[in-house]
Amino acid sequence: MTAAVAAYIQQCQTRLNRLLEHQPAMGRSDGAAVPDALLGLGEASHYSLANGGKRVRPVLVYAAAEATGNPLPNSGLDHAALAVELVHTYSLIHDDLPALDDDDLRRGKPSQHRAYDDATAILVGDGLQARAFERLTAAPDPDPGQIVAMVTSLAGAAGPRGMVGGQFIDIRAIDSDMDLPRLVAMHSLKTGALIRASLVLGGVAGRASDSQLAALDDFGRHIGLAFQVVDDILDVEGDSATLGKTGGKDSAANKPTYVRLLGLDGARKEARRLLGEGLDSLGEFGDAARHLRELARYIVERDR
Ligand code: IPE
Ligand code: IPE
Ligand code: MG
Ligand code: MG
Ligand code: MG
Repeated sequence: MTAAVAAYIQQCQTRLNRLLEHQPAMGRSDGAAVPDALLGLGEASHYSLANGGKRVRPVLVYAAAEATGNPLPNSGLDHAALAVELVHTYSLIHDDLPALDDDDLRRGKPSQHRAYDDATAILVGDGLQARAFERLTAAPDPDPGQIVAMVTSLAGAAGPRGMVGGQFIDIRAIDSDMDLPRLVAMHSLKTGALIRASLVLGGVAGRASDSQLAALDDFGRHIGLAFQVVDDILDVEGDSATLGKTGGKDSAANKPTYVRLLGLDGARKEARRLLGEGLDSLGEFGDAARHLRELARYIVERDR
């Protein structure tokens, strides 16, 4: 990772982490106090949201808005960055549950259901998802058309034609053979869709033109898939301490992955091919998309 992209990522992470502190998982737009009975839910939500995550999706939201070259905007951008991270964190909490991947470690700490219990993990996830949409619609200054576009994109990416659909295919694929087209479809849904939506939300917040939005979407399609290809590689190559989650889970659970289908070298080659295709989509943006390009390279070269 170059020093420039590291600094950019850190700056966006700080911005996002500050937002998370000022808009805690239980907060209300009118500032009403949290009832005592719900304090435990707030604490459990904070447990999974705080630190540890790379915040790749919010960083992509910021960089996509920047790529439009338009003067940067109102609260809609921060609310979009926050919303994608809330949906993503919920997806991780549910992904780790015993009924799905049964994972004990997440973001370097015991996963939510290990630190609390299954029921809390289910409810915290449900709450974060709803909260994401509440935050999107609470942004005071984007126009209603921008808010509807952002809600539509995020809901589609999170739902049965997006992340949830991909997760459904994933849990049913255990012990089965899957050919490459089906693997592409599964990964594009379970992980690609939310990354793709992050780029679209950033574009909408930055008032992208139709052609810019189509280009961001195409870039997101390639980079979102590449992200999961690399996740499959890291599951084999990474150690749990660096990853902050349990390595070797996919082969232990006998899941179809890029590494299983193409081998480590084949998977690495495919990630680089997707990177190239993604970068090609950014042709029209010029220097305004330099952070996006660097982030795409980081996604393919990362070690965690
Ligand atoms: C992990 O996502 C789950 C996938 C969708 C592959 P990240 O690797 O972005 O996890 P965090 O947010 O950094 O913990
Ligand atoms: C998860 O894929 C995709 C999600 C929607 C959370 P994985 O199951 O491979 O993610 P990790 O490796 O547990 O982070
Ligand atoms: Mg999983
Ligand atoms: Mg998992
Ligand atoms: Mg994985």
